[in-house]
Amino acid sequence: MIITRTREELYKTLEAFSKRPGKLALIPTMGNLHDGHLSLIKLAKLKASKIITTIFVNPLQFGKNEDFKKYPRSEKLDIEKLKEEHCDILFIPRNGEEVFSKHEKVKTLDSGTLGSELCGKIRPGHFDGVLTVVNKLFELINPNIAVFGAKDYQQQILIRKMAKSLHPQISLLKAPIIRSKNGVALSSRNNYLSEKELDIAANLFKCLQNSVNSYKKRKQLNEILNNANSFLVSKNLMPDYFELRDSELNLVSKDNFEGRKVFLGSVTINNTRLIDNIEF
Ligand code: PAF
Repeated sequence: MIITRTREELYKTLEAFSKRPGKLALIPTMGNLHDGHLSLIKLAKLKASKIITTIFVNPLQFGKNEDFKKYPRSEKLDIEKLKEEHCDILFIPRNGEEVFSKHEKVKTLDSGTLGSELCGKIRPGHFDGVLTVVNKLFELINPNIAVFGAKDYQQQILIRKMAKSLHPQISLLKAPIIRSKNGVALSSRNNYLSEKELDIAANLFKCLQNSVNSYKKRKQLNEILNNANSFLVSKNLMPDYFELRDSELNLVSKDNFEGRKVFLGSVTINNTRLIDNIEF
């Protein structure tokens, strides 16, 4: 695996790889890699012969009181895991300047109305920061394919919309959620939780499953949402939101909406916010 830490090294490496046949797939990450990230690489490999992963903890997507400073960083381990996964190129910028150069104006993207709903309501500006960095990575790397995880459902919808207008040549892949044995969706922030808290966190997935089953049994949506909120509170998972939306994240208020849809939930446990969803 070739490790690049500056734009110059990145460009040189990409130039050399452009002479090799096959497609280039990008997996953008913030590091602290787990099996969820590695599954993105596995999926990418089915569609592309050259894989580039980026590790960059993007300051623009963290609010003032959020965990930018304490966000788990585990460079050595990440590099080992990527080597084992036969990733071809890693771009791990030596500093933020290699992504957002002081010689160019940062093109700040606006995530619009959807960007201020659901997670965006709790984290104002978060999705503007995500879109801004992903757009920059797309500009720097110009991959054929980019892969994002379904756990961050709202993120992947917003990135899809952005890419459709700014980078229509890039195909986006959505990788299924990877869960631990007890059902908790893998996330770098799970590191903040104790074993006991992770067991409690499993109730978010249970709640999503129950809600899907109830909806399929044609129970009233209002009742399902009320039950879900009470269930989560009873398990000491403080709900930030729990909603049903269509697969494009438009509001669904009908009890028997037939199209693709998704229950999405966000809960806080011991100051750590966890998100999860089930699309059906
Ligand atoms: O999902 C993430 O890890 C980040 O939001 C992303 C897409 C790498 C942008 O920083």
